[in-house]
Amino acid sequence: MSSQFGQLFRVATWGESHGGGVGVVVDGCPPGLELSEADIQRDLDRRRPGQSEIVTPRQEEDRCVILSGVFKGKTLGTPIAINVTNKDARPEAYREMETRFRPSHADFTYQAKYGVRNWEGGGRASARETIGRVAAAAVAKKALAEIAPGLEAIAYVRSIHYLEAAIDPETVTFEQVESNIVRCPDASVAAAMVELIKQVRSEGDSVGGVIECVVRGVPPGLGEPVFDKLSADLAKAMMSLPASKGFEIGSGFAGAKLKGSEHNDPFVMRDGKIRTIGNRSGGIQGGISNGEDILMRIAFKPTATLLRPQRTVSVSGEETELSARGRHDPCVLPRAVPIVEAMALLVLCDHALRQRGQCGRQGTALPQF
Ligand SMILES: Cc1cc2nc3c(=O)[nH]c(=O)nc-3n(C[C@H](O)[C@H](O)[C@H](O)COP(=O)(O)O)c2cc1C
Repeated sequence: MSSQFGQLFRVATWGESHGGGVGVVVDGCPPGLELSEADIQRDLDRRRPGQSEIVTPRQEEDRCVILSGVFKGKTLGTPIAINVTNKDARPEAYREMETRFRPSHADFTYQAKYGVRNWEGGGRASARETIGRVAAAAVAKKALAEIAPGLEAIAYVRSIHYLEAAIDPETVTFEQVESNIVRCPDASVAAAMVELIKQVRSEGDSVGGVIECVVRGVPPGLGEPVFDKLSADLAKAMMSLPASKGFEIGSGFAGAKLKGSEHNDPFVMRDGKIRTIGNRSGGIQGGISNGEDILMRIAFKPTATLLRPQRTVSVSGEETELSARGRHDPCVLPRAVPIVEAMALLVLCDHALRQRGQCGRQGTALPQF
């Protein structure tokens, strides 16, 4: 089913933007892990609307409640259901979308597919769906701390429109990412990004950009040959995010311009382990992690909903205009940062469990055994 993701660490999200609530069921989580609502809330707070002056002003606390799968603070191994009730729903602000399709949003395609759609705030296509993913990833983090200790995913805004930051993925810290509202660890560029987002918002317009994500402390050996390559699953995870338009790993599209002699990552021995000089592979070779940092970039388009007139067509086929109301993110990137991290953690948790299930251990960098 389309709302499920993962093989062993399996998540199913549910809910619409202005329905009763949104959430997730996590099935396959190992038993005995300490898990509280506070663990999940920390991550949801980074994603929630209304958190700063450059995101949607919708006021949602996004308070999570664990309904099942946890007893006396520990996971039971049974499905973990997490609910977030929608509080600040104002469906009347979206009435014009009942009869007119927003350009480049999901209104037309949902209508074409199902013949019926919840037009209130984008329904299922709303980024509120990603609450379930972030909540599930908070659980995945707990599992990963046991089965792949030291693994961490850090995402940050790399560029917005034409503003490009200079960031070292090897050393960037969570605190640097969280030091400003745009979540770009390059302080001077971050300030310009904030001003740009405010300016396009005042013009009823929007901007997109690129989020980079580094996963450090990945053991070698995660990923399956052929269809479930780690790189393929990460690409699917990131391309399943609303508004994502491009995915690169390692050298990405720029690597296509290099010669093999320039592109290869030579192997060397370092601290008794087989390592590489350079990391154009982005930490994955043959679909399997090689122990280097996994490095990805995800392109997000400018927000589709504009608070200015746009040419469109009505449900009955008349050419018309649509000027949106409602509350929107003029740039989705600052709030997409924790969601990108969440998807990376879901994929890695699933593959760490699969590796343990098949091989009984995490991969080891030769020649240790
Ligand atoms: C964090 C986040 C917030 C978003 N906020 C909005 C928004 O306020 N308005 C909007 O039109 N789209 C928003 N989007 C994007 C839409 O959900 C998305 O464009 C829509 O579902 C159509 O899907 P597609 O762009 O992947 O084709 C947001 C996306 C993310 C990741």
